[in-house]
Amino acid sequence: MKIRMTAIGLSAFLLLLVKCGSDSKTGGASSFDEKLYLDKGNAIVEETFAELSGKLVSAIEEKGVSGAIEYCNIAAMPLVDSLSSANNATIRRTSFRVRNPQNAATNWERGVLAEYEAKHSAGEALKPVVKELDEGTVAFAAPIIMKPLCLKCHGEIGADIVTSDYLTIKRLYPNDEAFAFVDRQFRGMWSITFKK
Ligand code: HEC
Repeated sequence: MKIRMTAIGLSAFLLLLVKCGSDSKTGGASSFDEKLYLDKGNAIVEETFAELSGKLVSAIEEKGVSGAIEYCNIAAMPLVDSLSSANNATIRRTSFRVRNPQNAATNWERGVLAEYEAKHSAGEALKPVVKELDEGTVAFAAPIIMKPLCLKCHGEIGADIVTSDYLTIKRLYPNDEAFAFVDRQFRGMWSITFKK
């Protein structure tokens, strides 16, 4: 009798284990530390954006728009390299309309871009988001909105963008789609993936 009771107890315990195990497998919001990755992502974006804007502004002053074109390429920024390796992360920017085809959106990025675009047209504020892509990867996204400075290279050709500057852009980026944006329009997003 005692043995039977123990056996029942044991199988109940095992069942519980299996149940807990399957719960954590199906994921859900609690299977990774959302706040940790939101904080990390926000810190990386803040630092990278500050460096990027600073470089753009001083490069435009010194070399003019066509000389500053390479300064909107975050992949070429040493800061991004060091932040990537320090955080075990991949840092990029993407959009539905890209200048560099290497920045084209992946599947999960398209999903978030579409959500952001819908919210932005509905006049809602856009916030950074985190999601688990698979057991070993967490993705962070944050919106990018057009500002007056950006129009010099992403605005209307012949009006905001000087035509001769656009020729330089087009020569370097023959498939460019990242023009004709207006101030405050939704431009795209930061996309950071972290290896857990
Ligand atoms: C001096 C010209 C210039 C200015 C000013 C500029 N950009 Fe860019 N932007 C570029 C170029 C060139 C690329 C392509 C970089 C690359 O090769 O990744 C680019 C790429 C991007 C991308 C990556 C997606 C894509 O289209 O390839 C985003 C997002 C972006 N810019 C947003 C902005 C925002 C926001 C501003 C204003 C704060 C801005 N840019 C100002 C020239 C510029």
